[in-house]
This record gives sequence, structure tokens and C-alpha cells, in this order.
Amino acid sequence: MERLINKRILLGVTGGIAAYKSAELVRRLQDAGAEVRVVMTAGACEFITPLTMQALSGNPVHTNLLDPQAEAGMGHIELARWADLVLIAPASANFMARMAHGHGTDLLATLCLATGAPIAIAPAMNQQMWADSGTQRNLLMLQEKGIHVFGPAAGSQACGDVGLGRMLEPHEIAELAAGVFEYSLLTGKHVVITAGPTREAIDPVRYITNKSSGKMGFALAEAAAEAGARVTLIAGPVYLPTPARVDRVDVTCAREMYDASLAAVDGDCNIFIATAAVADYRPVNPADHKIKKSTEEIHLTLVKNPDIVAAVSAHEKRPFTVGFAAETQDVIAYAQAKLTNKKLDMIATNDVSGSNVGFNSDNNAVTVIWPGGHKVLPLASKKQIAKQLVELIGIRYKD
Ligand code: PMT
Repeated sequence: MERLINKRILLGVTGGIAAYKSAELVRRLQDAGAEVRVVMTAGACEFITPLTMQALSGNPVHTNLLDPQAEAGMGHIELARWADLVLIAPASANFMARMAHGHGTDLLATLCLATGAPIAIAPAMNQQMWADSGTQRNLLMLQEKGIHVFGPAAGSQACGDVGLGRMLEPHEIAELAAGVFEYSLLTGKHVVITAGPTREAIDPVRYITNKSSGKMGFALAEAAAEAGARVTLIAGPVYLPTPARVDRVDVTCAREMYDASLAAVDGDCNIFIATAAVADYRPVNPADHKIKKSTEEIHLTLVKNPDIVAAVSAHEKRPFTVGFAAETQDVIAYAQAKLTNKKLDMIATNDVSGSNVGFNSDNNAVTVIWPGGHKVLPLASKKQIAKQLVELIGIRYKD
């Protein structure tokens, strides 16, 4: 079931008494980590209300093909593109027939034509309708199109008949839906990433910080989520949107980042990646009020901040711990020293002496070092570097 983590499931509900089970299916899919959006046919709305499905899924339910409001937000093409899997449960005989013949007569049928995602159906109908030669021909056509068919099961039916045609139970459908997805490198792993700078207060309006934009850490969060991980992104003050499928915790200063990181490691963190440019020092006593410029000189006393990544690697529930090193000289030697001193599993070092890589740039170039090996990731966009680094981490994590 962990293959459903972060997956986007478009649940199509068609008209049939089994539609009431779709409500539980939403919960099963969500419990397994999937995000669920629901599309209902007119027939489905006769059996269960869109309001119920909206309340359970936490998202607006879509029912009409030509709905100007939905088209302005998430219209049918966006929905079709959004889905990682279109799952139709229950799938009625009528809907199977329309699908088999490529009809786009309502929103759900149109979505099935417009999506590039895999499609699965969980048929539910009277046993005689299931056995009908037309339905069986349609079933074959759907299977030939590559559509996954879950069930149906045999048993007593709402109409009093006994036979094949009952919809599978929600937990069985959720298990089969998970099986549509392959295992990715980080499937089911919890990855915690720090990103951006920290801000250390001097007084209520002034602070010490650095040039980190958060781009490298955010790119890593996106790449880890794409690799199947559950991602917590602990972000210093940056101006970037949260990547899809990522949980974000905003912090301001190093001590807040420390607390958030250690809380995550106390939980169930498998991999920790310290991309943040944490301020090494903070003013010892930030002023309660704005400091007035009465004297020619003022002196700040700075005190050392806790080392977050070192504390993580020393934790009793130590995750696989990856650091970064921002260096302007002797890049490899300093990074090697940090790898050893902070007891890391891996460190990615970037030369931040120029402006085309490292701080705030869209690009980076890093050398990744681990005990007994290294790999150079040459100049590329931070998104590309992040993908390569996540792959490397996935491989080393398994070793
Ligand atoms: O945010 P961008 O604009 O995209 O820029 C990316 C980056 C240059 C910030 C990033 O690629 C990078 O190099 N991050 C690490 C910056 C840094 O603070 O390096 P450092 O050599 O000072 O620290 C070494 C490691 O210890 C880092 O993993 C750092 O997060 C960690 N650290 C440092 C101090 C501290 N108190 N706690 C820590 O966890």
C-alpha cells in the first residue's frame, strides 16, 4: 500500500447501489497516503450525494462536463492531467459500454479519453448484466485497451440474485490500485529536508542572514516526492511556493530549525538532507526595541548556534544523514572534514565563490562525497542536480 503515498487518484463514481462503498474507498486511499479527487456521473448522484464525497475527499466534487466554474479552476483537461490513476468504482455496465466505444458523453467518460494516466475499473452490476454477451465483449475491449479490471466478486446481490457482479470491498480495491504503481527508489520513505537561510534577530527590525534562496532545498523536496517519498520541508524565510505533495514547516531562526528538525527525527525520518545555510552565530541578546543610532559604534556579541545536522547524525534514531558544504576554497578538503566531523553518510559540496552556482543561482555543480567514494555532478539546473542527488541518495541508502 505504500506505493499509494503521494499518488493522485481520480475516483470516478457511476450509478449503482455499490456507490455507497466509494465513500469508504476514499478513506482507504487517503489512509494509504493518496490524494483523492472525485468525479460523479448523474446516475451516481442518485445513490450518494456529492456533498458526502466532498466532505470525505476534502476537495470539490466534479459532476458536469460543461461547468464554467470548474473550467476556471480545475477543468476536465486539468483533472485528466492531474491524475496518476483514474479509478472508476463502481463501474456500471452502461459506463463500461460507453468507455469501450470511446464515447465522451459526460465528464467522467471524457476524462477517460483525455487522460494519459492508467485507468482501472471495479465493475458492479447484476449477475445477469455481467454475464450478458455485450458486457463481456465490452470487457474484452477495455482489457485490450490496457484498462485494469478489479473484480467483480461473486456473492449475494442487492437485487436478491446470487452470482458474479458484486463490487470488490474498498480495501481490496485500494490494494489493487497500489499494485498499478511500481516501486520507486524512495517509495514509503520519509525524507526531511532543511532549506533556505535562517534569520537571527538583532532587534525587532534587524537581523543577520545570508544569501540562500532555498532553491536547492526546494528542488530536492520536489525530486524526493517524485521518487515516492513522503517529504517534510523545513524552510527558513524564503519566497518560494511549496512543491506539490510536500509538507512544509516554516521557521525563522536556527534554533527553530533545530527544534523542527529534531522533532522530525524523533518521529519516523529515514533520510535527512541538510541543505539550509544555517547562521553559525546569533546575537546573544537581541534588543527588545529598535536600537537607536546614538553612538558612532555599536558592538554585537554573537554566540554559536546549535549544529543541526551534527545533532541529527548523533541522534539515537539516526536517519541516513546528508549534509551540504558551501565553500570558497579547498572545496573538497573542507567538505571531507565536515563529512567526518559531523559524522555524515554523504556530503554534497558546492563552490560558492562565483555567482553562477550555489547561493541564489538557478544552477549548481556539486561533488558528492561519501566514505570510500565520490561523484561529480557537473553544472546543471538545481532541479536536475536534485534529481541526480536523490538517485544517488536512494542507491547509497539501500547499501
Ligand atoms: O538556497 P540556495 O540559494 O539554492 O543555495 C543553495 C546552498 C548554496 C545554500 C546549498 O547548496 C548549500 O551549500 N547549503 C549548505 C550551506 C552551508 O551552510 O554550508 P556549511 O558548510 O556552513 O554547513 C555544512 C552543513 O552543516 C550544511 O549541511 C548545513 O546545513 C549544516 N549546518 C550548518 C550549521 C548549523 N548550525 N547547522 C547545520 O545543520
